[in-house]
Amino acid sequence: MKKIKVLHKSFSKPISCLTAYSPSIANILDGVIDLILVGDSLGSTLYGMKNTQGVTMDMMKRHGAAVNKEIKKSLKVLDMPYKTYENKVDAYKNAKILLDSCKPDLLKLEINKKKLVILRHLVSKKINVISHIGVTPQSYKNFSKIKILGRTNKEKNKLLNLAKESENVGAKAVLLECITADTAKLITENISIPTIGIGASKYCDGQVLVFDDLINLSTKNKKPKFVKNYLNFAKIANIAVKKYNREVKLKKFPSVKFTYN
Ligand code: KIV
Repeated sequence: MKKIKVLHKSFSKPISCLTAYSPSIANILDGVIDLILVGDSLGSTLYGMKNTQGVTMDMMKRHGAAVNKEIKKSLKVLDMPYKTYENKVDAYKNAKILLDSCKPDLLKLEINKKKLVILRHLVSKKINVISHIGVTPQSYKNFSKIKILGRTNKEKNKLLNLAKESENVGAKAVLLECITADTAKLITENISIPTIGIGASKYCDGQVLVFDDLINLSTKNKKPKFVKNYLNFAKIANIAVKKYNREVKLKKFPSVKFTYN
C-alpha cells in the first residue's frame, strides 16, 4: 500500500478532502484535493436513499473501482458500508474485497467504543484506516434526528477518549462529524494524528465536504449549516437544459455545425 504522506499533522497546510462517486468528478479533483473519498453518502446523494444503511458492498465496489482509475495523485479513501464490519472476521473479509477491487489508500469506518477492536484488527492486518466519530450517519435511519455533539462535558470527554483510542489502535486520522468547535479544538490539540472535520469547525487539521453539496448539484434536500455552496450548478444547469429544450422544439438544434455529411 502507498505510503500515507499527506496524513501528518505537520503537513504544511490543512488537509483538503472531497467526495467523488464517478470518474468525471474524480478527474476534476485529482491532484488538487489531498484526499478523495468515495463516501457511502452516495446512498442518499446519488441513489436517493433516505439514509446510508441501504448502501451495499457492490455499490461501493462499483463506484470505488470507477473512481480509482482516474486518481493518479491524490490519496484515495473508501467507506466501508453499513453492517460490513460488525465483527473482526467480516470486517477483514470485506476490507480485503474493497482493497482488492478499488485499491484505496485508506478505508474509513464509523466508530464507537465497541468498534475499536475492529479498527485494531484491521490495523494489525496492515490496513490504513480512518476512524469516523461524532455523528456517524450509518447509525441514523432518519437524518433529521441528527444533533450536534460535544455540547456537554460528558459528550466532549467521550469524543476525546474515542479519538485518543482511535489513535492508540493505529488509525491514520480521525474524521469528526457535526461536533462543536471547542470539542474539535480539544481533540485536535490532544491527538497526534490529523483530524478532518465536516461540520466540526476550523480547528481541525483538515476539512471534508460532499462534492455535490459544494456545487449545489441537488436542490432537493435542505443543506446542513456547515455546507458552503461554491457554485450554484443546479441553477446553471437549469438554464442550459431550458435552452437545449427550446432549440430542439424550434429545430435550431442540431444545426449544420453539429451534423455529419
Ligand atoms: O460518506 C461520506 O461522504 C462521508 C462524509 C460526509 C465525511 O462520510
